[in-house]
Amino acid sequence: MKTDPVGIFDSGLGGLSVLQQVRKILPEEAILYVADSAHAPYGCKNTPFVEQRSRFITERLIEQGAKIIVIACNTATASTIEKFRQDYGIPFVGVEPGIKPAIQLSRNGKIGVLATTATLASERYKQLVHRFASSVQLYNQPCPGLADQIEAGQPDSSKTQLLLTQYINPLIAENIDTLVLGCTHYSFLSEAIKKITSGEIIMVDTSQAVAEQLKRVLQSEQLKSRNFSKGISLQVKYYSTGSITETARAIKTLMHLDVEVSELC
Ligand code: DGL
Repeated sequence: MKTDPVGIFDSGLGGLSVLQQVRKILPEEAILYVADSAHAPYGCKNTPFVEQRSRFITERLIEQGAKIIVIACNTATASTIEKFRQDYGIPFVGVEPGIKPAIQLSRNGKIGVLATTATLASERYKQLVHRFASSVQLYNQPCPGLADQIEAGQPDSSKTQLLLTQYINPLIAENIDTLVLGCTHYSFLSEAIKKITSGEIIMVDTSQAVAEQLKRVLQSEQLKSRNFSKGISLQVKYYSTGSITETARAIKTLMHLDVEVSELC
């Protein structure tokens, strides 16, 4: 039904960057957000594990009435979305590293990609590169440990700074002019990245594009909430498979919001 909620999930809190854009573009939609914090990060896990966790969460969201699911995680999208579109009777919207917009934006054709080890190794990513990136030079940089810093609610700590420098400096040395944030967690690092790159590198973050795609799919599937006409801004319900206190604390740091988080088990 049109008034049913939109389900959004991620390995943890990275998908909140997508949620923020969805709230801006679609304030009339009720949302269920699930952070699989007990199992984050996904980026260093194998495909069967990520698929099993994503399936578990998808089924909980469907049980709670989700009319559509946004897989707000590049890693989970890469290993599940094709199957899930066949297995479940609802639409799915996924995320992928913004290679296509980066190619449009880059002037020198040298593009860095920050993503998880699993995303960069995935067949889906290889196909994306094969189909669209033959005319540019891509510098893929796996970033172990970076998503954990966001999970810990520490986007500005010295450890985060150190990891970022370690991952980005080799890309700067290659003279990249564009940097793709290929993991939803990394959106929360855009200010820190700007400092390291002295604001001279174009950053590509797809969270707004994902929210716009969600809107298009809701419209084409005739699932868009009608509460818009009444000007109602509906609630977001937050769930975590990890510590609900830690998750609420990290949400406060990342989104400056006091929210109640429920346990999902
Ligand atoms: N936020 C996720 C992504 O977009 C994964 C981070 C992780 O769990 O490693 O890939």
